[in-house]
Amino acid sequence: MPQSLSHSALIDIANTFGTPLYVYHAEKIKSQYEKLVNAFSNSDVVFFYACKALTNVNVLRYVRSIGASVDCSSVNEVKLAMHAGFTPTNILYTSNGISFEEIEEAASLGVNINIDSLSNLEKFGRKYGHSYPVSVRLRPNIMAGGHLKISTGHDKSKFGIPVEQVGDLVTLVKEHNLFIRGLHIHTGSEIKDVDVFLKGIEVLFEITPMFNELEFIDLGGGFKVPYKEGDEETDINLLATKVAEAFASHPNPNNRPLQIWFEPGKYLVSQAGYFITKVNVIKQTGSTIFASVNSGFNHLIRPMFYDSYHHIENISNLGGALKKYSVVGNICETDSFAWDRNLNEVSEGDYLVFYNAGAYGFEMSSNYNSRFKPAEVLVKDGVPHLIRQREEFNDLLRNQVELSF
Ligand code: LLP
Repeated sequence: MPQSLSHSALIDIANTFGTPLYVYHAEKIKSQYEKLVNAFSNSDVVFFYACKALTNVNVLRYVRSIGASVDCSSVNEVKLAMHAGFTPTNILYTSNGISFEEIEEAASLGVNINIDSLSNLEKFGRKYGHSYPVSVRLRPNIMAGGHLKISTGHDKSKFGIPVEQVGDLVTLVKEHNLFIRGLHIHTGSEIKDVDVFLKGIEVLFEITPMFNELEFIDLGGGFKVPYKEGDEETDINLLATKVAEAFASHPNPNNRPLQIWFEPGKYLVSQAGYFITKVNVIKQTGSTIFASVNSGFNHLIRPMFYDSYHHIENISNLGGALKKYSVVGNICETDSFAWDRNLNEVSEGDYLVFYNAGAYGFEMSSNYNSRFKPAEVLVKDGVPHLIRQREEFNDLLRNQVELSF
């Protein structure tokens, strides 16, 4: 797998900062962003980094510095983004199933608001009428994405206002004189097939004539990145060409050109991230050799939760003979990262690196089994910076209210 940080750099960083450790490479985030910007250079496009993938404020600051906007899924992410220096106009807040109070809070911060239910839209209309432009998330009833758990646009999905309810949506808009500024879809994560986006555009183009103040169409995130040798990724250049063609061949409502918004998460940070662990125990059993690392699904849940494949390398013994291992964590229940994986011979104390660990890695970590969350390091201009300390025992007690019996 092509990687942007060398094995020796990863070993040095692990020796310096300890393991388990998340390491991110700033310039890789930038080169991914530039691939998007260059591909879409002939269209009027804004990229909002879907920061749910990785919210360390230093990463947010870096993403802002390279020119991206940011997509937030909670008001706390909005506040983190503001803390990192994003201005409200560059922040998009896509709510889903949240209280109207949270939407009011986001509105008080002046960010772009995207609403995903008729219920909240009605409350929004009652309170703000035409005064606060808003976008709406639609459910286009398209099945897409790399795993059912990350498919969000199909006809059983909780997300968005189902397109078949667009009549009710229009009624609401009229009733409250809502300023509908954008239409949004996000059909899933790890969408390789460009046609999925085009299908989404077709669905939206049927609806755009019903709204006469539209300024943008938001096609969400979900670009697929490669996880292993030979894996395909979304063809961004093809996507850019096809999207431009689709927009050119549809008359824009009120002759106002529509801006195109995207919300990439994985595409920007997945490959920029490395998760370094150390092997605690080698256990030879009848059929399997287990390599048990000093981590578990409490730190990287994707293999257990989505059956995700993360390429793993033994960077401590790169020339060693290949053998098959099951790489497991130390959590007190089934906790497997990989089965029957070819690795250079593994010894206790070796560093195993998990690739594609930038997106939804640290961000989905927990303290299960009362273990500490890992530290995070950002490598920028060749220099590794600690950007989150490893937790320590007091962190486990911090919010507990202790009674004395
Ligand atoms: N926009 C919206 C509204 C989203 O819900 C998401 C992701 C994105 C953009 C960014 O999608 P991306 O470009 O990262 O695929 N935890 C899962 C992924 C869940 C994605 C949730 N929504 C995983 O580890 O695969």
